[in-house]
Amino acid sequence: MGDPATPPSSELAAMAIVDGASLKHPFSDRVPVRSIVCRPDGGAGLAGNRVRAGGWVKTGREQGKGSFAFLEVNDGSCPANLQVIVDAGVEELSTLVQTGTCVSVEGVLKVPPEGAKQKIELRVERVLHVGPTDPAKYPIPKTKLSLEFLRDHVHLRPRTNTVALAYLLIMISAVARIRNALAFATHSFFQEHGFLYVHTPIITTSDCEGAGEMFQATTLINEAEKLEKELIENPPPTEADVEAARLTVTQRGEIVAQLKAAKATRDDISASVAELKIAKENLSRLVERAKLKPGIPKKDGKIDYTQDFFARQAFLTVSGQLQVETYACAVTSVYTFGPTFRAENSHTSRHLAEFWMVEPEIAFADLQDDMNCAEAYVKYMCGWLLDKCFDDMELMAKLYDKGCIDRLRMVSSTPFERISYTEAVQLLEEAVKGGKEFEKNVEWGIDLASEHERYLTEDIFKKPVIVYNYPKGIKAFYMRLNDDSKTVAAMDILVPKVGELIGGSQREERYEVIQRRIAEMGLPLEPYEWYLDLRRYGTVKHCGFGLGFERMVLFATGIDNIRDVIPFPRYPGRADL
Ligand code: 4AD
Ligand code: MG
Repeated sequence: MGDPATPPSSELAAMAIVDGASLKHPFSDRVPVRSIVCRPDGGAGLAGNRVRAGGWVKTGREQGKGSFAFLEVNDGSCPANLQVIVDAGVEELSTLVQTGTCVSVEGVLKVPPEGAKQKIELRVERVLHVGPTDPAKYPIPKTKLSLEFLRDHVHLRPRTNTVALAYLLIMISAVARIRNALAFATHSFFQEHGFLYVHTPIITTSDCEGAGEMFQATTLINEAEKLEKELIENPPPTEADVEAARLTVTQRGEIVAQLKAAKATRDDISASVAELKIAKENLSRLVERAKLKPGIPKKDGKIDYTQDFFARQAFLTVSGQLQVETYACAVTSVYTFGPTFRAENSHTSRHLAEFWMVEPEIAFADLQDDMNCAEAYVKYMCGWLLDKCFDDMELMAKLYDKGCIDRLRMVSSTPFERISYTEAVQLLEEAVKGGKEFEKNVEWGIDLASEHERYLTEDIFKKPVIVYNYPKGIKAFYMRLNDDSKTVAAMDILVPKVGELIGGSQREERYEVIQRRIAEMGLPLEPYEWYLDLRRYGTVKHCGFGLGFERMVLFATGIDNIRDVIPFPRYPGRADL
């Protein structure tokens, strides 16, 4: 077996060797556009190299009275396109120039004539593949130029078919690369700091936030539907059918008794016993089928979950926190990063029904440590984008949000403001006295609304703000009760453009206190018994937080609606593909 990085043929191995290193993609026979145009010299130094390139035509035009065509080809490896020139003798040009056409071409890289914008272009000698597209039939019409409209075509969203749409779609792929970079940065940050990546379950039987916003995972409904259909096709036996079968059993039983009394032959007795057995089996089958009732199984007037797939009620997780705590309380520094699901009927630009969350958990650490970790992590991600994803950030600044790069610079270099909830409410009350109007009234005890959070971070401090020590009544049961018995050791990080980016807390490690808090909140104890065991045996001070990954992408890119920063958004009324 060869090294997967080795080009498959000697022909290709000879291509694109620059400074001794192959530019070829390790698992494809083409050279990514990025490897050509994203070099510091814009690709000029590669002139003379033979390469294969592939991608989708962003713009194409025939020139020189149809003697050749210019194609701007993009393969998503970077925001920039590769300029490709095809002579009419090589391929039928009219099929190539349609925006959205897929091409795979081979040729030689050349420096364009003086005055051209590009530093390098590909002179095609062979066209290896054309995936044509008919602009008249393409599902995205040229006139619909909005991110909202593209949401109706998520499978084509990362591509383009029209010049006019191109900027939106280039942005969608830039967002995808920024999202990818943030995921890489996340693993890099936690791995560098000695955290263990733990996969927590998607299907769970405990409600972490205790807010009752869970999607149920059940097979009872499809089982009921299947049964209903089966009973229509093959109706259950009637009472008379069962009675008749019972009578047959009695009669066959009597025959066996008579034969035995008459000392009949062994063979005759065996034959009649076999018939009796068949009659009994038939009866029990009918009795079982007669019990089948259409609909969801019930017991004592309630749904009988013992008949469900997991023999109990189960849900999609709203957070991996409770489960990741079991590892934190054994191996000290852990994180989970996975999809979470919330069945809240929010139609806002900040909520999804399925979103990704990054949740670290640290043992032997308190609320201050939690804030320090969260601040360092957010700063690290901002620095990472400035460092490693600058071309995409420049594109976002040009196309969508001029301030996005400055925002990353500011956040990566400025200490976050830290204020208590009580101070935050005082500041908001002062703002109201000064004439500021909020939709929701401000008073101590309220759950801060998005308008309040954004006012604090965008107007008052103009930088990220960590609000800590919230009233216990508005926060989850697992947060550590402060000595004032009124507040808990919670912290939220609020950032400009988004509002709440992170929610975290020091966890309640005292068995008696947490047990009381669960009861106070009206939650059942039983599903949390395993969680209480972490406090019963070898309890430890610990803390953690959850960062809404899409909110981080919103913050970085400046995109307005969270539905446009996840490839396949799920929200009330919508779950395409
Ligand atoms: O504040 P939340 O609800 O905290 C938790 O779930 C904790 N168990 C986390 C922990 O301590 N391990 O959610 C955390 C973050 C929020 O700050 C927000 O950024 C994001 O998740 N979030 C959502 N993002 C998109 N759509 C939704 N419906 C969201 N709900 C929360
Ligand atoms: Mg929260």
